[in-house]
Amino acid sequence: MAQTSDLFVRVARLDDEDALGRIDRDSWSTLHAVKPPQEPPYGPFFHETCLPEDFLVAELDGRVSGYIRLGFATPLASNAHVRQIQGLLVAEEARGRGVARALLSAVMDAARRQGARRITLRVLGHNAPARKLYESMGFAVEGIQPGEFYLAGEYVDDVMMGRSL
Ligand SMILES: CC(C)(COP(=O)(O)OP(=O)(O)OC[C@H]1O[C@@H](n2cnc3c(N)ncnc32)[C@H](O)[C@@H]1OP(=O)(O)O)[C@@H](O)C(=O)NCCC(=O)NCCS
Repeated sequence: MAQTSDLFVRVARLDDEDALGRIDRDSWSTLHAVKPPQEPPYGPFFHETCLPEDFLVAELDGRVSGYIRLGFATPLASNAHVRQIQGLLVAEEARGRGVARALLSAVMDAARRQGARRITLRVLGHNAPARKLYESMGFAVEGIQPGEFYLAGEYVDDVMMGRSL
């Protein structure tokens, strides 16, 4: 969908299962995760409510290096013009090379093609890198739920961000 010399964004495929599962497990951190780390035996990355077509993946230097998931904010017809980013993760070794920016840009293009007028997301208050990324891509803070999560001994805000498309 978007290509430069070594960075390529495409729709996910079933055979991305292992790479995406590994990125998820290797990158676990309370900076972004609200669930505990996975323990073996690991469940599948893709399943009936988490399908490859809902994900875009980035290949950097020929390696799957990150993903973004796009979904509906709610199942309501009255809310069908809004899309929600429901996961964004870049492998630690691929960070700082524009992978997240490429994934976000491609997902906003995909949402526009689907006819969406608005896109939203939630980010933990202490996740400074992600908040800076979203702000730089035109997202604004639209609400804060104070102390919504208790992570590693601290209450952490949940920050709602959004932008028009
Ligand atoms: C946040 C994250 C997705 C950024 O991925 P990335 O591929 O390294 O980001 P990019 O290289 O595309 O950077 C784009 C912009 O994001 C911001 N950014 C990225 N990493 C940053 C950091 N460590 N500190 C501050 N800003 C940062 C900057 O604005 C950067 O633009 P710049 O390079 O012009 O300064 C990545 O760190 C990650 O996967 N974190 C863990 C998962 C997560 O937090 N997901 C979001 C959950 S809501």
